[in-house]
Amino acid sequence: MSADAGKRQAAEAAMTYIDNGSIIGVGTGSTVNVFIECLARDPGRIRAAVSSSEASTRLLEDAGIEVMDLNHAGPLDLYVDGADESNRHLSLIKGGGGALTREKIIAGASRRFVCIADDSKLVGTLGAFPLPVEVIPMARSFVAREIVKRIGGQPELRERFTTDNGNVILDVRNLEIAEPVKFERTLNDIPGVVTNGLFALRGADVLLLGGADGVQTLE
Ligand code: 5RP
Repeated sequence: MSADAGKRQAAEAAMTYIDNGSIIGVGTGSTVNVFIECLARDPGRIRAAVSSSEASTRLLEDAGIEVMDLNHAGPLDLYVDGADESNRHLSLIKGGGGALTREKIIAGASRRFVCIADDSKLVGTLGAFPLPVEVIPMARSFVAREIVKRIGGQPELRERFTTDNGNVILDVRNLEIAEPVKFERTLNDIPGVVTNGLFALRGADVLLLGGADGVQTLE
């Protein structure tokens, strides 16, 4: 079974978590794009969406879905987003698409975070996927040196990429993240780091994994 088919299964399964007429948070990435297609096929299912990126905003608006500012939406019941990796405790690596800061904000503002992915994203230990860290541009070299000092790995500047917030991304390779909460806190402590792609302090509440045997639900 292809990864795309797994993503579609997970995206369709996420539709069952929506309360009719609610305002939901919507993440970013190819799996979420399929979820937005599902929303588009069901007009009126949600009242509005809070979007985690300019890319998702465009798709939502093209689908005729109102996009609301988080400041006006208030606390959200549901956030649906993908991941680059998840472990069995539903700690995630996110930010492959560079939208990690807004994603972390919306995840934090939501009562329930439903993560959707194909089943190749489930790993024993996080870190094979390079960990994205969003950084204020003037702090780029300093933060890279501090990352090596504090957690190891090899930070590399994501070339020709600027986040929706005007910052740069360092992708940190060769990490083995046995203690995601500790890593997340350590990275948060480095001046110049805006957000790191570990979602462990606030991980997913539900993980829907599409694969050959259908949708596996972890919670
Ligand atoms: C974007 C993300 C995405 O959720 C993550 O990269 C997964 O993307 P995809 O669904 O394309 O595999 O964190 O910043």
